[in-house]
Amino acid sequence: MVIRDLLNESILKINEAHKEERAAYELLKKHLKIENYQLYLMLEEEVDKAVIDDYNQDLNDYLDNKPLQYILGYEMFLGRDFIVNDKVLIPRYETEELVENILYHIDDYFSDYEQIDIVDIGCGSGAIAISLDLEDNKTKVIGSDISSDALSVATHNNELLKAEVTFKQGDMLQPLIDNNIKVDILVSNPPYIPDEELLENSVKDYEPHVALFGGNQGLDFYEIILKNAHLVIKERALLAFEIGYNQKDGLINLINKYFKDASYQILKDINGKDRMLFIYHNLINK
Ligand SMILES: C[S@@+](CC[C@H](N)C(=O)[O-])C[C@H]1O[C@@H](n2cnc3c(N)ncnc32)[C@H](O)[C@@H]1O
Repeated sequence: MVIRDLLNESILKINEAHKEERAAYELLKKHLKIENYQLYLMLEEEVDKAVIDDYNQDLNDYLDNKPLQYILGYEMFLGRDFIVNDKVLIPRYETEELVENILYHIDDYFSDYEQIDIVDIGCGSGAIAISLDLEDNKTKVIGSDISSDALSVATHNNELLKAEVTFKQGDMLQPLIDNNIKVDILVSNPPYIPDEELLENSVKDYEPHVALFGGNQGLDFYEIILKNAHLVIKERALLAFEIGYNQKDGLINLINKYFKDASYQILKDINGKDRMLFIYHNLINK
């Protein structure tokens, strides 16, 4: 079979399953070990039977709802490819917006610092921590996670992307408390999906549940962090969180409980949904 026929056959299957045609191109590139532009020059070339079998196996996994990123083994985040597997959450576009806003906040509040100490709690693949390390040369970043499998992926990404993040394993803030570490910026995209929420099969069946669920209302990890944050932040500090689109009220209650003197801001994502929370601890209001 030639590449053109394999592609057409796959696109028919993908359309029947109402999934993305892009997957056929990405998977072909993976199995033929070629770049985009080469694919179009090779459409009439024969494909080995063994390659077709491996390709079809991946295509069937995709049609069975396995996320394309896990099949390909990577996802792009802020212009860099991050290795991913089923032990880590696939980094999301919304999280890129969180990182971009943290970088703006660094300019606004920490531009006169020689070094800015940052921790990313629940670092997963390392997307947030590594991006903050690479995007600003004054940042010194720690990434922590409870999952040693996730930390292996993050460490691998750190090496591949030539970043200098330090990783620590442990439960929420405990690694910082144990080592008496205090930071200028605490960032977290914790598990925040309410335990009972219905999810798409591609998420529920494939992404690690330790990365997804945050208790009854999805607020458990925010409460653990906000309750103990004073132990790990400096005199002036920024706390930055990704949040669920419907968690604003619950989070404001937690801020009033644990950071009642601080100002805060909730920002929307590109889809107009509440998505980021910034708490300004002794930082002068803009
Ligand atoms: C929503 S994912 C975020 C991953 C990554 N930061 C990102 O934005 O793509 C949450 C992460 O928190 C980690 N996690 C879950 N429970 C934790 C705990 N008790 N202490 C530390 N990390 C935890 C999970 O392993 C997962 O990597």
